[in-house]
Amino acid sequence: MRLLVCGGAGFIGSTFIKNHLQTKPNDIVTNLDNLTIGSNINNLKEIIKNKNYHFIKDDIKNLETISILAKESDIIINFAAETHVDRSISNPKPFIETNVFGTYSILEATRKHDKLFIHVSTDEIYGDAENKKSFDESDILKPSNPYSATKASADLLVESYHRTYGIKCITTRCTNNFGPYQFPEKLIPKTIIRASRNLKIPLYDGGYQIRSWIYVLDHVQAIESLIEKGKSGEVYNITSWNEITNKVIVEKILKIMGKPLDIIEKVGDRPGHDKRYSIDCSKIQKATGWKPRYEFEQALQETVSWYQNNPQWWEPLANEKTLHPQPWTVNW
Ligand SMILES: NC(=O)c1ccc[n+]([C@@H]2O[C@H](COP(=O)([O-])OP(=O)(O)OC[C@H]3O[C@@H](n4cnc5c(N)ncnc54)[C@H](O)[C@@H]3O)[C@@H](O)[C@H]2O)c1
Repeated sequence: MRLLVCGGAGFIGSTFIKNHLQTKPNDIVTNLDNLTIGSNINNLKEIIKNKNYHFIKDDIKNLETISILAKESDIIINFAAETHVDRSISNPKPFIETNVFGTYSILEATRKHDKLFIHVSTDEIYGDAENKKSFDESDILKPSNPYSATKASADLLVESYHRTYGIKCITTRCTNNFGPYQFPEKLIPKTIIRASRNLKIPLYDGGYQIRSWIYVLDHVQAIESLIEKGKSGEVYNITSWNEITNKVIVEKILKIMGKPLDIIEKVGDRPGHDKRYSIDCSKIQKATGWKPRYEFEQALQETVSWYQNNPQWWEPLANEKTLHPQPWTVNW
């Protein structure tokens, strides 16, 4: 099988590619990434010489390139996106450009060459689940910030291309990921890095927001299960049913690191901040038999150890801006 993976130099995309080539060594993977925020070509160091792996530096908005590559592929999987909510509040434009126009160009290439498109989306498109039941795939989209609004727009475009043009597509909506190689500005790496530098740990409004955390390998294995058994035109939620507050997760990290809890500092809240994300993933479990395999506490400990043992990976990326206590106030 030949896969075109877009955004494969980022956190989840690079994990997907490495896992895929390990489990399906005869497949051919082309990774297209424009190496912007979130990317790190070092994520792929171990496979750079693999003869079945190819890298192309380009933008998903470049329809001409995407179309040529789509023609030579069986499946297109898109991880490429502007992904940091806080940045989208400060400057929404690149989010609209990549997440909406980029998805449009992949859809056009998919339509032209009749390939399967796996659209990687997020649980954030359902909006706030505070005092509500967990959302399932039939619930309405009610995004609260520019990032989630652009992801929801992309989801709707995918649905419309399926209904109007009959393209083959699968949409996945996953909860918060964690694991090695995640960019320093996201909550878990930022906490580990700031704590290792003995800096205060900022918690927006005290950190009472609830998120469900999934280990990144569980997410990529869920996508693999859908490549094999997913049904075209369908949407699948992915979660590990593991809801905790940001405050609790930060405390767990500090305990693992042997740091005092009084370095936690309450800061003002992010505008439009959703209190809780919660989704139901019975559908994928029924359709493919997938279920999360990694135990949260163990995976968190291993993630902390990975950052502690690999400062050469994050040091060049961890600066005043990426570790800022309130990134939406920064000019990105
Ligand atoms: N991280 C999470 O917790 C999470 C949860 C659910 C869904 N998702 C979705 O998964 C996908 C991957 O997320 P991630 O955390 O790995 O993100 P990331 O920021 O680590 O990586 C994104 C990658 O996309 C590339 N990219 C961005 N704009 C591009 C463009 N215009 N053309 C080509 N490449 C471009 C970047 O260079 C980077 O390598 C995103 O679509 C995100 O919305 C992420």
